[in-house]
Amino acid sequence: MRTQVGIIGAGPAGLVLAHLLHRRGIASVVLERQTRQYVERRIRAGVLEHGTVELLRRVGLADRLDRESMLHHGLEVLFDRVGHRIDLTRLAGRQITIYGQHELVKDLIAARLATGEPLLFSAPAVGVSGLDGKPVIHFRHDGAERELHCDVVVGADGFHGVSRTAIPAGAVQTIAHDYPYAWLGILAQAPPSSPELIYAYHERGFALHSMRTPAITRLYLQVEPDEDLAAWPDERIWSELRTRLDRDDPAWRLADGPILEKGITTLRSVVTEPMRYGRLFLAGDAAHIVPATGAKGLNLAVADVTVLAAALARWYGTGEEDLLDAYSTTCLRRVWRVQHFSWWMTSMLHRRPDQDAFTTRLQLSQLRYLATSEAFATSFAENYAGLPLTEGVDHDVT
Ligand code: FAD
Ligand code: PHB
Repeated sequence: MRTQVGIIGAGPAGLVLAHLLHRRGIASVVLERQTRQYVERRIRAGVLEHGTVELLRRVGLADRLDRESMLHHGLEVLFDRVGHRIDLTRLAGRQITIYGQHELVKDLIAARLATGEPLLFSAPAVGVSGLDGKPVIHFRHDGAERELHCDVVVGADGFHGVSRTAIPAGAVQTIAHDYPYAWLGILAQAPPSSPELIYAYHERGFALHSMRTPAITRLYLQVEPDEDLAAWPDERIWSELRTRLDRDDPAWRLADGPILEKGITTLRSVVTEPMRYGRLFLAGDAAHIVPATGAKGLNLAVADVTVLAAALARWYGTGEEDLLDAYSTTCLRRVWRVQHFSWWMTSMLHRRPDQDAFTTRLQLSQLRYLATSEAFATSFAENYAGLPLTEGVDHDVT
């Protein structure tokens, strides 16, 4: 099998890239380890930045999103039992869109299949070779060992993929930071208790109120990094959420309902740099992980492949390698900005197990500053709603 661009992974990064390349007349093959049903049901992120939605719209991927998503003009930060609204639209001139990642993945898969170009499920890549010259992706499909020969390989296979491990030791550097806590997330059949997201700082730990639809809530609780899900029966989860999201407002009530899904998400920051080795380009979670507090993982994945698609189009169109050579540097500028924002937000909102009074006072001071300073809230809003997708890229990205 042969193609121009071999893409490992049918997550948001791989599928958006395949679509952008198709629009530029560049052939690709997407290999996905899991089944279609599995990836279409995997519950993950839910917040799309303004720039992500604009990009999806420009390239014809937002029809259902425009019909079914929820546009949010602000969010709330809750501490000391009082909520403080951050008006994203007024402060940053941009909104966020609530649309489940698995819904987006369904749309991306449908768009790919409609092009008739290859997207193979149950096709795990097991290795990559020839990265210095003629790349080959080795994969399994229908019980057979296969090879995909291509000009370039894109590792869009997430944090646990194989592409990063194909890079010789020492050729790239991985910089990581761990946090002494994790999130327990639930999806509940309950209407949102507030029209917007609530990020809550509480002495018992962080909590987040989010949503997927007017009938489905997504809620998170800070827990221990090695937390056992079995220790969290439904009633304990609701009770803890009620405590952490409580406020001095007699009208406030956290709506509950049947829990449809439950899971633990670890929080970590990881960057592999450069995001390229020879003919292999890393994109999305394969190159970097951010703690979910800033809601940036999916958006960063889309930003990477937007830069990569433009660079590949230039290379195929003119033979010029300049944009491909700049790919890692261009992406890493955004990645590190987002890393800092996500780390900062995470550090402000979570309680460390060994936290001293000094740290608590600093967190509360930051929260008060965010709630009262127009300038600080504006900076927060700009980062949360997302920097423009074309930041640092002086060419047409689509
Ligand atoms: P992925 O979506 O991980 O896609 C990679 C794809 O590659 C997967 O489909 C995988 O099956 C496939 N793959 C892996 N190995 C191989 C192989 N060898 N061969 C072929 N295919 C392979 N972000 C938030 O903002 N909020 C959240 O609540 C949130 N929750 C998350 C929960 C979990 C469990 C995880 C892992 C991530 C979460 N994220 C969240 C982050 C966000 O979902 C990711 O940043 C986003 O999915 C990145 O997209 P991607 O395409 O780079 O990677
Ligand atoms: C979500 O809705 O899953 C979500 C929202 C905001 C975050 C993380 C996750 O910061």
